[in-house]
Amino acid sequence: MCGIIGYTGKQEVKEILLDALEALEYRGYDSAGIAVSDSAKRDVEIFKCAGRVSDLRKVCAQEEIHAKCGIGHTRWATHGGVSDANAHPHKVGRVTVVHNGIIENYKELAAEYHLSGQLQSETDSEVAAALLNALYESDPKEAVYKAVARLEGTFALVILFEDVPETIFSIRNVSPIVATQSEEGCMLASDVTALCRFTNRYFVVPEYCLLELHADSLRMQDMEGNVVEPEYMEVNWGLNSSDKGGYPFYMEKEIMEQPKAIQNTVENHIQNGMPDFTEEGIPDSLFQECERVCVVACGTAMHAGLIGQALIKSILNMHIDVELASEYMYTDPVVDEKTLVIAISQSGETIDTLEALKYARRQGARSLAIINVKGSSIARESEFVLYTDAGPEMAVASTKAYTTQLALIYLIVAKMAQVRGVWNEAQVKEYIAELLRVPAAIEQVLERRREIHLIAKNILEAKDLFMIGRGLDYSLLLEGSLKLKEVSYIHSEAYASGELKHGPIALITNHTPVVAVVTQSRLMQKEISNIKEVQSRGARVILFIKEALLQELKQEIEIFTLPDLKDEFMVIPASVALQLMAYYVSSDKGFDVDKPRNLAKVVTVE
Ligand code: M6R
Repeated sequence: MCGIIGYTGKQEVKEILLDALEALEYRGYDSAGIAVSDSAKRDVEIFKCAGRVSDLRKVCAQEEIHAKCGIGHTRWATHGGVSDANAHPHKVGRVTVVHNGIIENYKELAAEYHLSGQLQSETDSEVAAALLNALYESDPKEAVYKAVARLEGTFALVILFEDVPETIFSIRNVSPIVATQSEEGCMLASDVTALCRFTNRYFVVPEYCLLELHADSLRMQDMEGNVVEPEYMEVNWGLNSSDKGGYPFYMEKEIMEQPKAIQNTVENHIQNGMPDFTEEGIPDSLFQECERVCVVACGTAMHAGLIGQALIKSILNMHIDVELASEYMYTDPVVDEKTLVIAISQSGETIDTLEALKYARRQGARSLAIINVKGSSIARESEFVLYTDAGPEMAVASTKAYTTQLALIYLIVAKMAQVRGVWNEAQVKEYIAELLRVPAAIEQVLERRREIHLIAKNILEAKDLFMIGRGLDYSLLLEGSLKLKEVSYIHSEAYASGELKHGPIALITNHTPVVAVVTQSRLMQKEISNIKEVQSRGARVILFIKEALLQELKQEIEIFTLPDLKDEFMVIPASVALQLMAYYVSSDKGFDVDKPRNLAKVVTVE
């Protein structure tokens, strides 16, 4: 949460900071600010406001800002409400700071160092600035080391010292910082999307390493003062891949990118029609020796895990738990060296997932992560990593990350079936061949998106909406429902259709919209009965059904037929249809689809 940027180099910094903050805005969009280091005036000037980066642009447009070094921040509020004063950067004395994370002992520090009189905001971050200022005599590094030794919690701190012009210092614990050096100067950011307009090479700043950026050089050292060399890596995202590409919103663009993203993800992990993870160095023994599997993840990524659970249970007949990462270590999980923990995360930075993974590893579990962002914290914490080839996902509502996570899950299931002797080679190949048909099936849904738009128009006014299905359909509806509530603010609940009679059916009244998904042949008759139950209580049913299952249904049902795939793969085209429905509801209501209220893309606070 919170986006951080820093640049020092040959170019004027204002536009660089503002553009980068726009790229990072999905990390938080309550307020924004920049601080620039003016070497001529030996001064640091701050411009900030509550609101979006677009509001900050207006603030900056009224000012003459000429500097080649600066830092910026886009905030997701934790300590202190959304206000100009609580916006970052915070300046106390000679020190200016932007911060991502939570300083847990900020009250104790403020009392111990008598800082309260210097504070103008309610934030924990300003206490960090005041502490640094209190400890700063003439050596910035010494001040940083001393301050950091006193901080409890998580932090990515980026610091300007007024009397050390055009130099940026940074240090972090848990909260991410990546950095790079190019012809134009040196840059750091919370994540690589802000850097990829400049370069596709970057490195992750290791925890508790002090990074010092100058216009033409950078240096890192550990807490003992030893030099640490950056370990550069490359991101294969194009320099423009974080643009909207002509679409009004990233969410639409990202929905449309799914056929290609899934194709890339699958093709990069098969060899002669068989799943292949040799490039990632994943040994077969990882899948052979485990006795149980446990998925830890949050939100959409957790929903991808639920699909994995259904497949692993039915195909491999194995025990698998899917745990909400935020609950995991507080619920006495059964985990040992025979457990394969699979951490799923688009960003690779979700703190709950990271902590759950660390906990499982401490208990001896083997680990595999499914991640979209290279070199992210969870990727580095996990024993093995499989990367989704989704490219940057900018919309807060996850779409292509989910379906590419599913693609990897199908591949993992196939690999496990192969190495555990559940399937022979022909069966594995047949399964992979069907997976390769998924992108074309998605294309068919995308081509008919106007029909889904019409369906969406009929639910614009709904206050409450229910989604019902059984088996895999129920699991995918949990995600479909999250998508709808996240971007449209309609209260939506997904229920296993068979569970309706045990309570929730009391909520169905005349014209309540009920979205039903029917893609599983063996469950179809029961699903149809459940649809009739809600219909006879007045519900207005919208049905997404696999074409081959389409039967005589009541005329008044709105029907969208889904292209036929084998049942277990229907999850993906059905999910894409529900993503489109959520998207159209949100955009037709005139909402900022990509930045739903109260949310942030990367959740780095517990
Ligand atoms: O980056 P992660 O995949 O770990 O994020 C997990 C959730 O925060 C995320 O999926 C969230 O639920 C999305 N906003 C859903 O669209």
